[in-house]
Formats: sequence, C-alpha cells, structure tokens
Amino acid sequence: MTVLALEDVTVGYDTPVLRGIDLAVEEGEIVGVVGKNGVGKTTLLKTAMGLLEPTEGTVTYDGRDVTDDPPDVRAREGIGYIPQGRDIFPGLTVEQNLQMGEHVGGDSDVTRYEEVYDLFPVLEERADQDGGTLSGGQQQMLAIGRALVGDPDLLLLDEPSEGVQPSIVDRISEDIRAINDELRTTVLFVEQNLGVIRTMADRCYAIDRGEIADELTGPELTDEDAIAQYLAV
Ligand SMILES: Nc1ncnc2c1ncn2[C@@H]1O[C@H](COP(=O)(O)OP(=O)(O)O)[C@@H](O)[C@H]1O
Ligand SMILES: [Mg+2]
Repeated sequence: MTVLALEDVTVGYDTPVLRGIDLAVEEGEIVGVVGKNGVGKTTLLKTAMGLLEPTEGTVTYDGRDVTDDPPDVRAREGIGYIPQGRDIFPGLTVEQNLQMGEHVGGDSDVTRYEEVYDLFPVLEERADQDGGTLSGGQQQMLAIGRALVGDPDLLLLDEPSEGVQPSIVDRISEDIRAINDELRTTVLFVEQNLGVIRTMADRCYAIDRGEIADELTGPELTDEDAIAQYLAV
C-alpha cells in the first residue's frame, strides 16, 4: 500500500524550487532523498507535511488527497515531522519536549513513551533536565522521540546527521532502522551524509536542478560514486 505520494508537484517560494516531482513511499519502507545543499530537500518534506502548498500537483496520504490539509490535520492523521535543526525547546525539560509530540496521530489514544525510553534510555535518565543541555546527538534523539510519542505511521526526517558527532551518527541510523522494524513506522528522510543513506535507505531518490534525476535501488545503494554524484561537490 502506498502511504505517501507526490504527483507532478511543483512548489517553491516566489519561484518554483521543485518541478514535476513524482515520488511514492510504500508502507514499511525507508526511503531516502539525496541532493546537494539548496536543491529543495527541506522544501519537499515541508510540502509532504503541509507547511508549504504546491502550486501544481497533488499530495496523497493513505490514499486520500491531503493537498489542502494543514499540518495539524496531517499530524493527527499520523504524519510525524522532524525538522532540520531539530527545533526542540531548549528551556523545557526533556519530558516536556516529548509531551509536545502527543498530538501526532491524535486520533488514536496510543502514546509511545515506553518504546521511546527503551530506544533512547538517555532520555529517561535526563527526563527532568532542560532540552538545551543535551548534546547534538541527544537532541536529535529527543526530536525523534517527540515525533514517535504520538505513534505516527509515517516519519518525515530532515537531515538527522546534521550537527551530530560522527561517532553518534551511525547509532542514530541504526535507531531509525529499529523503529522501522519494531514499530512498523514508514520513513521518508532527506540526507547528504553518504553513510546514513547507505545504512538507512531501502531505496533512494536523487534531486538535481529541481527535479527527480534518478532513483537508486539495491546494488546502486552500495555504489558510493552513484550516490556521491548527487551530493555536495
Ligand atoms: N523561506 C524561504 N523563502 C525563500 N526561499 C527559500 C526559503 N526557504 C528555502 N528557500 C530557497 O529554496 C531553495 C531550496 O531550499 P531547501 O529546500 O532548504 O534546500 P535543501 O534542504 O535541499 O538544502 C534554496 O534556493 C533556498 O534558498
Ligand atoms: Mg534542508
């Protein structure tokens, strides 16, 4: 079953950034989107979340046209969004930050604190500490945890490796795989980090010059050069 589909989407700010985007994410998949800085990866995820409205094309979630639905509606229907730079609340405690995620998937009463604390024990240990005191990697875990607490069906993840120590980056990629495996959460992520792409993605789209330039699957994902041509020069 297709969880998320963008069909012939054109979107941007004053002028289009992305043109004629066709992309689909099937239930249970981890799909990556790669592309250089400024190519429109964040724009793509914002469009999937409803933070930006396409000028052309449609966005479908769980088989329903959600093109005109605002982000809060999409969140209640099960889309969790982890923005680039994480956007945690530095002055709120770790636990309060997690509580902010409860409205995701709000149509069900399920909360996933136990699973989040199992995945990221450090968040339970530091539950009463301010979010701003955590390291970059721990803040990324907090942002992922906040999106997971409401039990989303689809996670949108914007450059999880950014601002995270290299030694922790692998750990976070493996955590996302565990979330996909154990909680059956479908994932669409954007990245520029080759290692993360190779560890996490079942399949991957490459964006170049505002369009989907390529789709990489199976063996192509183990070919560093095939991916690297779409990353920073
Ligand atoms: N709020 C905005 N207003 C105007 N232009 C923007 C805005 N946000 C991003 N852009 C422009 O849109 C393009 C794509 O940006 P973005 O989606 O953030 O790229 P990426 O995430 O791939 O680095 C860039 O040229 C960027 O300067
Ligand atoms: Mg970005």
